[in-house]
Amino acid sequence: MSTPRDILITSALPYANGPIHIGHLVEYIQTDIWARFQKMRGHHCWYVCADDAHGTPIMLRARQEGITPEDLIARVSEEHQADFAAFRVGFDNYHSTHSPENQHYANLIYERNRDAGHIARRTITQAYDPVEQMFLPDRFIKGECPKCGAPDQYGDNCEVCGASYSPAELKNARSAVSGAVPEQRESDHYFFRLGDFEPMLREWTRGGSLQKEVANKLDEWFASGLQEWDISRDAPYFGFEIPDHPGKFFYVWLDAPIGYMASFQNLCDRTPGLDFDQFWGKNSTAELYHFIGKDIIYFHALFFPATLHGAGFRVPSAIFAHGFLTVDGQKMSKSRGTFIKARTYLDHLNPEYLRYYFAAKLGPGVDDIDLNLEDFTARVNADLVGKVVNIASRCAGFIGKRFDGRLSGSLSEPALFAEFVAAGESIAAAYEKREFSRAVREIMALADRANQYIDEKAPWVVAKQDGRDAELQDICSMGINLFRVLIGYLRPILPGTAAESEAFLRIAPLTWEAIGTPLLDHAIATFKPLMTRVEPAQIAAMLEASKEDLSATVMAPDAAPAAANPHLTRDPIAGPVDYDTFAKTDLRVALIREAKQVEGADKLLQLTLDLGGETRNVFAGIRSAYDPRDLEGRLTVMVANLAPRKMRFGVSEGMVLAAGPGGKDLFILSPDTGAEPGMKVK
Ligand code: 2FM
Ligand code: ZN
Repeated sequence: MSTPRDILITSALPYANGPIHIGHLVEYIQTDIWARFQKMRGHHCWYVCADDAHGTPIMLRARQEGITPEDLIARVSEEHQADFAAFRVGFDNYHSTHSPENQHYANLIYERNRDAGHIARRTITQAYDPVEQMFLPDRFIKGECPKCGAPDQYGDNCEVCGASYSPAELKNARSAVSGAVPEQRESDHYFFRLGDFEPMLREWTRGGSLQKEVANKLDEWFASGLQEWDISRDAPYFGFEIPDHPGKFFYVWLDAPIGYMASFQNLCDRTPGLDFDQFWGKNSTAELYHFIGKDIIYFHALFFPATLHGAGFRVPSAIFAHGFLTVDGQKMSKSRGTFIKARTYLDHLNPEYLRYYFAAKLGPGVDDIDLNLEDFTARVNADLVGKVVNIASRCAGFIGKRFDGRLSGSLSEPALFAEFVAAGESIAAAYEKREFSRAVREIMALADRANQYIDEKAPWVVAKQDGRDAELQDICSMGINLFRVLIGYLRPILPGTAAESEAFLRIAPLTWEAIGTPLLDHAIATFKPLMTRVEPAQIAAMLEASKEDLSATVMAPDAAPAAANPHLTRDPIAGPVDYDTFAKTDLRVALIREAKQVEGADKLLQLTLDLGGETRNVFAGIRSAYDPRDLEGRLTVMVANLAPRKMRFGVSEGMVLAAGPGGKDLFILSPDTGAEPGMKVK
């Protein structure tokens, strides 16, 4: 065995304002496979991650839900970690960018760069929302495209004609937070002088450890000139205040990658012997790898190494960028049900299937990968159930019943076993280069070979013939040993199946080195099926549930407060409604007969509304504002002819009208002026 390497691996930090979905999982599964492989090879390998907890969208999301950003990020962190654990993404540490460690390193990196003259101050003019009293990021300004006139376009580019522009060029611009017309205001900002680092970045690019596509991208960026980078944002902002500039905060992308360091520091603090400087110090000999999506190369291949270098830290050994996920050849789509949350997948399917399918598709480049659901079903069933697991199930029964679970004392086909072990070198080389699809192909070729061996030896025939017991035991022991080698090779991809197989074989967790030693004169446990087939009905149910997720998400966390408060909608700028359309809305006075909390929903109350004889069940996002006991017996106004909507917690048969900025200030009660339940509201 060669000398163990010190390796630190990261995946991009997911934003703390939304759930993990299968698009994210391409990256976490890819990184996890690589980390597990390195660990199996005996290297000192650490895999860390964290939630990316700062920025305007998280601040606004928390306000929309009527909770503090701290509460929001704590809840989302729990959800993220539960999803990752279920997919067996084996982080050594999962932290948050909203942490003391991250504040320490963000300040340190800023101060060292500032003291070395790499920070500039300039006054800039920006869009400002006079109602919300905040500067607006480009994505929070909407208006008509200056090129094609399409309405409702974001402040940076048009989704209709593809034009890029500045928010000031948008026609009839509105704040997407309050709907107000933005003003132009001046403010001092702090800029990182990226250009100071061009020589160092050019040298790093030429070092040969970047993917070809990433190196080409960097060359393009060098050719167009490295721009100064605005690293500050004005209050209100959820982030870290810049040490010497009260009221100014670090832009989320300044402290996000520093979160890799923070998570590792947090791990060092509770792991004896693990030394932060050995991995991040200027002269570190450890290897440092960042797995990321191709959309965030600029931050990882330019800004992050430059800020690290400017502050006296080492730069990454390599950045491994990957492509996006399509489902059935198309972008994930909420209406088709292919925008599949990790949790929804888990409700229907075994996570090992997806790990295997992604591995079978993943290469070392930045190409997009497609999850073709028919192919997914066919491949998992044919390869995992039909080939790999089948080897064990064809042999284990005879060993259990006829030989008390004991394997033969020697291998009957040592050459075949040696062939399997020898293949490990090429498979390891494929894993090392992140050529996972090649590794899978080579492993499946071995699985075919093992099945062919069993077919040829036909143990079911031998079993029926007298005097051939030793032969039967040898054949089946050979089969079990080939299965063990295959499970060893698949272990980085299928950690759950590997763990169950190790329990069945009664062996310690497999290392790459251990794979080569056969299991002889050893008692195994009773075989239990290791994996079941994927059924098309499970896929259909998952797609259906993903469509339902959408209506529940829109109705519950977003739409209910949004209906109450136009200031808080994500997307408040709807076109005008003509009178005839408005007149179709049937507004009625309703008596709140019963109000109660909804288990599992932090924002909803379930109301039983009396319309003067007829009762309706309505879910309303008003829990932050009302104690249910204060509502019973009071009057409200509801939309009585809204089509019923199926939500996660039941069917909502209408909507109550509410006003106010949100949180505690949401008002749904109608004054008691002699109105009767069921009365039409004019
Ligand atoms: O693009 C994203 O989802 C970011 N939250 C990734 C951050 S990666 C790192 F820089 F923190
Ligand atoms: Zn346009």
